[in-house]
Amino acid sequence: MEMEKSRSTEQRKSIRVIAAVCNNMGIGKDGKLPWDLPSEFQYFLNMVTRVSSPGKMNLMIWGRLCWYSHPHDLFPMDNVLHVVLSTTLNTVPNHAHFLCRDFESAVHLATTLPLVDLVETIWSVGGTQVYKDALQHPWCDLVYLTDIMADFDCDTFFPEFDKEAFKLQQRFPGVPSELQEEKGIKYKFQVFKKKIDDTV
Ligand SMILES: NC(=O)c1ccc[n+]([C@@H]2O[C@H](COP(=O)([O-])OP(=O)(O)OC[C@H]3O[C@@H](n4cnc5c(N)ncnc54)[C@H](OP(=O)(O)O)[C@@H]3O)[C@@H](O)[C@H]2O)c1
Repeated sequence: MEMEKSRSTEQRKSIRVIAAVCNNMGIGKDGKLPWDLPSEFQYFLNMVTRVSSPGKMNLMIWGRLCWYSHPHDLFPMDNVLHVVLSTTLNTVPNHAHFLCRDFESAVHLATTLPLVDLVETIWSVGGTQVYKDALQHPWCDLVYLTDIMADFDCDTFFPEFDKEAFKLQQRFPGVPSELQEEKGIKYKFQVFKKKIDDTV
């Protein structure tokens, strides 16, 4: 009830998910990416830093492990504000901008004052729970999923999601549709799109 009440004062934003998955839907191993594909990683950076006009920013939502596993020479990242989700940290990690206790609080941050006019898109960048929360959110409309067509040993996986609601797009603006290959590994960039119900 309370969440519904507060959502009515929020300005809706697009929530997007971005991940690379291998054959068994694996995304990670021992706290790291199971593969080293620099061009695929550059694609990720290009997507999350893209804004429609100068002065706008995106908000990236990170799980704690995912945040600490990234090379910190990545930061600061152009056009991006970073939120780390954690129930155990008490201070905002270095290079991040905000710390939130749950996914909805991070969304609330981006959709209310003072950030509401600054933030364009909310990106869920993993891990598993952060993806699950985003996929279940009524404002989640796009899933950017790179299909890495190879087997890797993984201990962390992308969650199941509703392929009836999220439809694979044959082509998507700004996303290369041809098969990619790097270090002998083939992969393709995919986008799944959900029609959003404007009443929620
Ligand atoms: N292939 C890809 O595209 C991709 C993308 C992202 C990550 N990864 C890989 O995935 C692995 C990390 O993912 P992971 O799932 O193990 O961990 P994670 O989500 O990065 O971190 C888990 C921690 O984040 C916090 N957290 C996550 N969701 C939360 C929520 N909804 N509310 C509050 N706190 C939340 C909790 O911290 P506290 O314990 O402090 O509460 C939780 O213990 C790494 O191997 C990484 O390389 C791969």
